[in-house]
Amino acid sequence: MQRLKIARLLTNGPLDSEVDVRGWVRTKRESKQGFAFVELNDGSSFNNLQVVVDRAVPGYESLLKQLTTGSSVRVVGTLKASPAKGQAVEVHAREVEVYGTADAEKYPLQKKGHSYEFLRDIAHLRPRTNTFGAMARVRNTVCAAIHEFYQSRGFLYVHTPIITTSDCEGAGQMFQVTTLDLALLARQQREVDFTQDFFGKPASLTVSGQLEAETFACGLGDVYTFGPTFRAENSNTTRHLAEFWMVEPEMAFYDLEDNMQLAQEFIQHILRAALERCPDDMKFFVDRVDKEVVRTAETIIQNEFERVTYTEAIELLQKSGQAFEYPVEWGVDLQSEHERWLTETKFCKPVILYNYPRSFKPFYMRCNDDGKTVRAMDVLVPRAGEIIGGSQREERLDVLLQRMQECHLDPEQYWWYVDLRRYGSVPHAGFGLGLERVLLLLTGMTNIRDVIPFPRTPRHAEF
Ligand code: 4AD
Ligand code: MG
Repeated sequence: MQRLKIARLLTNGPLDSEVDVRGWVRTKRESKQGFAFVELNDGSSFNNLQVVVDRAVPGYESLLKQLTTGSSVRVVGTLKASPAKGQAVEVHAREVEVYGTADAEKYPLQKKGHSYEFLRDIAHLRPRTNTFGAMARVRNTVCAAIHEFYQSRGFLYVHTPIITTSDCEGAGQMFQVTTLDLALLARQQREVDFTQDFFGKPASLTVSGQLEAETFACGLGDVYTFGPTFRAENSNTTRHLAEFWMVEPEMAFYDLEDNMQLAQEFIQHILRAALERCPDDMKFFVDRVDKEVVRTAETIIQNEFERVTYTEAIELLQKSGQAFEYPVEWGVDLQSEHERWLTETKFCKPVILYNYPRSFKPFYMRCNDDGKTVRAMDVLVPRAGEIIGGSQREERLDVLLQRMQECHLDPEQYWWYVDLRRYGSVPHAGFGLGLERVLLLLTGMTNIRDVIPFPRTPRHAEF
């Protein structure tokens, strides 16, 4: 008999027919009348399937002992309309096979209600909890929606390298990649000679696929890259990971306004997909994590994002009467307290801040004629703060070279990037969206370590 998944059984399972279902026991309740209710979950749905096991099932007495929380089973039985409240259907078992037991004395998830901190230390078992099941399904839906969004608009999915020899953001937060024996070099007190290294020069894990994506956009039009991204920022915050996933669209013939419009439609598409396709998981986040998450997502889907220049934002912040920890003046980078005030208090919706001072933005952003600002944009949202960073790119060779000098970058090292401005240069723009930041927004989870399967943060890479 073919195995059926619980999601299917709960929605349109074959009533009064025999079914084969497999999964992990969440709970077991014994009744005095000689049967037991077992709640089974197989990951296909937030909801469990109720299985009724009675005395007629072979090995009933020993099954009662073995069907503890966490054990894995195969059940063959009849799918019936359930007489009781709480579930529409249930399976009346004819036969139960235990694949693996889980010692009730030792199984870490025997009891409910563990803290997220505790669960982080058992990241190999947390997929079996309600929270991480819901998170995994929402994350999966978001990823599918990301591809759909770009594929339906004719964007090409480009795989940019993980190992790179150029620093896109110029912020010096790169993890070095080497095959040199550093311990040996240290013992011998020798200088590092990178010509002897694997690539013949220093290499790192990418902080962004943007520069490489630009090469494809400047030849094929609209592209996007979506992959793991690495930053060695030693900041132990609830919004930073050392390894995260970033989606980076890059579009030829786009200016900053086109870029902003795409960013808004993109975020709205993702949120809509999650609300439509993961109603049970989203209900869990509302009930158990943050009761506003669905309402927030709906508001974001229905409204235009607020567009505010950096200069206007500074004025608003200065006039706000708020006592910020970091004072605001034109020319400083905004702190998350400022970003939160703008998006959560002032506008109560996503805010696109644009035209930032060039002093603290990367070399590739297009310079405005005022000589002070660049065509940068950040999308700020309630809860998660900055979820998108992007810009129109500097397509003018002379201005780019001048900016590289200003940023102390050697154009020789970026020769291929500069070349794009030599041959058939076009106006273009793009942005990067942090997948985990979107998940913070969607789920209401407050720590970014709880929206990625295996978080990497300073001093943490156990699994
Ligand atoms: O603003 P960022 O640094 O922009 C770039 O890397 C550009 N090259 C993107 C582009 O234009 N193609 O990063 C983009 C987004 C941020 O807004 C944030 O959502 C996410 O990536 N992000 C992080 N997410 C988790 N942990 C970190 N350490 C992150 N750093 C950035
Ligand atoms: Mg940024």
